[in-house]
Amino acid sequence: QTIYLADYTPPAFLVDAVHLTFRLDPNATRVISRIEFRPNPDATSQDFMLHGEHLKLIWAKVDGQDVQTNLTGDSLKLDVPNAPFIWEAEVEISPATNTALEGLYMSRGMYCTQCEAEGFRKITYYPDRPDVMAVFTVRIEGNLPVLLSNGNAVAQGEGWAEWHDPWPKPAYLFALVAGDLIAKSDTFTTRSGRQVDLNLYVRPGDEHKCDFGLDALKRSMVWDENFYNAEYDLDIFNIVAVDDFNMGAMENKGLNIFNSAAVLASPETSTDANYERIEAIIAHEYFHNWTGNRITCRDWFQLCLKEGLTVFRDQQFTADERSAAVARINDVMALRGRQFREDNGPLAHPVRPESFVEINNFYTATVYEKGAELIRMLKTLVGDQDYYKALDLYFRRHDGQACTIEDWLKVFEDTTGRDLTQFKRWYSQAGTPRLKVSEAFENGAYTLTFRQNTPPTPGQEAKQPVVIPIAVGLLNPDGGEVVETQVLEMTEAEQSFSFDGLGAKPIPSILRGFSAPVILETDGIGDNAAFLLAHDTDPFNKWESGRALARRTLIDMITKGAAPDQAFLDALLAVLRDDSLDPAFRALVMRLPTQDELAQTLFDMGHTPDPMAIYQALETLRQTMAQHMQDALPRIYAAMHVGGSYSPDAEAAGKRALGNTVLSLISLTDGGAQAQKQYDSADNMTQQLAAFGCLLNIDQSDTATQSFYHQWKADRLVIDKWFGLQISYAAPAKAAEITEHLTQHPDFDWKNPNRFRSTLGALTGNAAGFHHPSGAGYDLVADWLIRLDPVNPQTTARMCTAFETWRRYDTDRQAKMKAALQRIADKPNLSRDVTEMMARILNG
Ligand code: ARG
Ligand code: ZN
Repeated sequence: QTIYLADYTPPAFLVDAVHLTFRLDPNATRVISRIEFRPNPDATSQDFMLHGEHLKLIWAKVDGQDVQTNLTGDSLKLDVPNAPFIWEAEVEISPATNTALEGLYMSRGMYCTQCEAEGFRKITYYPDRPDVMAVFTVRIEGNLPVLLSNGNAVAQGEGWAEWHDPWPKPAYLFALVAGDLIAKSDTFTTRSGRQVDLNLYVRPGDEHKCDFGLDALKRSMVWDENFYNAEYDLDIFNIVAVDDFNMGAMENKGLNIFNSAAVLASPETSTDANYERIEAIIAHEYFHNWTGNRITCRDWFQLCLKEGLTVFRDQQFTADERSAAVARINDVMALRGRQFREDNGPLAHPVRPESFVEINNFYTATVYEKGAELIRMLKTLVGDQDYYKALDLYFRRHDGQACTIEDWLKVFEDTTGRDLTQFKRWYSQAGTPRLKVSEAFENGAYTLTFRQNTPPTPGQEAKQPVVIPIAVGLLNPDGGEVVETQVLEMTEAEQSFSFDGLGAKPIPSILRGFSAPVILETDGIGDNAAFLLAHDTDPFNKWESGRALARRTLIDMITKGAAPDQAFLDALLAVLRDDSLDPAFRALVMRLPTQDELAQTLFDMGHTPDPMAIYQALETLRQTMAQHMQDALPRIYAAMHVGGSYSPDAEAAGKRALGNTVLSLISLTDGGAQAQKQYDSADNMTQQLAAFGCLLNIDQSDTATQSFYHQWKADRLVIDKWFGLQISYAAPAKAAEITEHLTQHPDFDWKNPNRFRSTLGALTGNAAGFHHPSGAGYDLVADWLIRLDPVNPQTTARMCTAFETWRRYDTDRQAKMKAALQRIADKPNLSRDVTEMMARILNG
């Protein structure tokens, strides 16, 4: 059943207060609810409806009178007075058998919840929609040392605790945790003097992995006060680490719940990349307290209202805490890798979708990452000052409300006097715009002409021009900048911009900082990539130029059988050797385009991508790089050595990143000797894992694989890496077989989402392995998706995106992928999540 944005109607009844009592039991938890309803003055209907799913109703009362309920599907409808009334009910649920990890479930003896988007209806009957906001009071009864819910702890005794959250909230922000947990604690004083107790709750044994998360939390709290005047609003902020979790983390009011992989960190077990991701997710969930919780979404079509904005805010935080240039490049790589791929395939959808079957299928790169790009563009267009003014107004005007994208844009219109009607197309039009540029130079005037075009996407044939902020700078052919960065505001399908009074034809640096989420096609202007790589003052475009050169070299190798381009190799070597450049930046320039990115590029050029040819070209280029740069590598490797005890800061991490990039090249010519040395002496996971990867890559894997396992078998998060890395580095012909073999390992706990993803997800991420002509990769992934679906539809549906690119490939691969998809689609009793994904992927 499809739900449409256009069908929105306000709730018939609002809730003032909710009292919940939980009597915890693994297979028979009782939930007693008391809900104060009143008619919604703005309602258009009087129908009283409560959502419910898999609930056993014990009894229900309206104003103290027993009611006979009509169960319609899983929801419940009944006649109620057109006046305030009290609903009471008792239901029974079974957390121990809840493997979908939605609602109240158990993870290794611990009770926890995940309610976003529509999980609360698996806990009790309720109007489970975000525009119903209420004050929650919760009593938990259970024989466990730690009993937590949202808000402030009001009372507790032996085997029970009571919590009260004064801030009205939608049910999706409800949370409960109960278990044998240990708190690592700290305090934070807000700008206006509120003392906040901070606790990070973990399993016994994980206490040593808490410091970094708590530190990141405090830095996030300071940052939000400084940049957004956003202060924390309760006396307690709890975070809990859970091993079984479908996503990264969840922003429940005052009680964030995290996938343990997204919060636990120690130098010995976590890589620099893990630290960086943990810091970003801690910030993201904390920032939701204002953008999401205090101001929430009217309905789930508005998801990007909170997610796009909160991702943008966490990107700002990372840019500010670390290197802004490096952060931007990382954001864009992630956007292109996941969002462009989505936007150019059958699952393309607008940042604000207009219909869905299962909302969990729309927690996508488009809603999150492209949603963040829209905020960034708005900020670029109105300027910093007006952006923060608008945000101020947003916080004041909409505090305590459930809002829409219209509310959001109105705040900017009211602040700036701008008409954002055209800008709004970014929210409703799917697909990545293509931006073509050409140039002319005459009488000292340099003119850039742009043409924009957005290709059709499923359900949207014709597209209209969008507003594109194009940041441009002009460089002198001798180096040096003649025109500093300006933002050109393109609104037409075709538009020209001129720069006068120039002595010579300049070299343009276009789309600086990646000022809009478009695909820029520069065929219409001279070939400036090598010049810009050497001279651009905009770090993003400097990197981008290196990427363009690498892409072109690889495409020529693949389509023309060309040898690796010497000029490219020299340019890369020059960057590698340039000690004036940040090591982290140099490491990014050295990174080659991914197999998937090359496949998409080839497809866009009218070729049928051959995953094996792409893989071979990358292997050849890496080998050539290793030889070409051989003499320079040992010096740089040594110079990147970081002494002293491990610190995850950006500078040290940047050095390790470059050092490990260099190590991977060295290991292609020294048989792995240097990598083995690093592996043996590493005192942190970044160094150990990088060396392990090099050893796996050159096939000297057996001893390292054994020793790594024996060293780390007690640490689930490290063993996830162990599963993943063996598969990521598997040769194409072996990848499916190695994965299959690992699924028989006693530690392959397939119901744990982290373990499932680190294994099957690693296979789908090994492009040449997944797309090996045998079809073994497709079959194995399909087998496991079929098996996981009845257990955990959300994680299954997410992994179906591995097949979203099927139409790019040759007829043989297409047939094999289609057969795999059809086999999944034909499975009886398939979940709603996967049914929708199969329909969209097959028909889109
Ligand atoms: N709101 C969470 C976050 O972005 C994600 C929750 C996703 N849940 C889901 N069922 N899809 O931080
Ligand atoms: Zn979020």
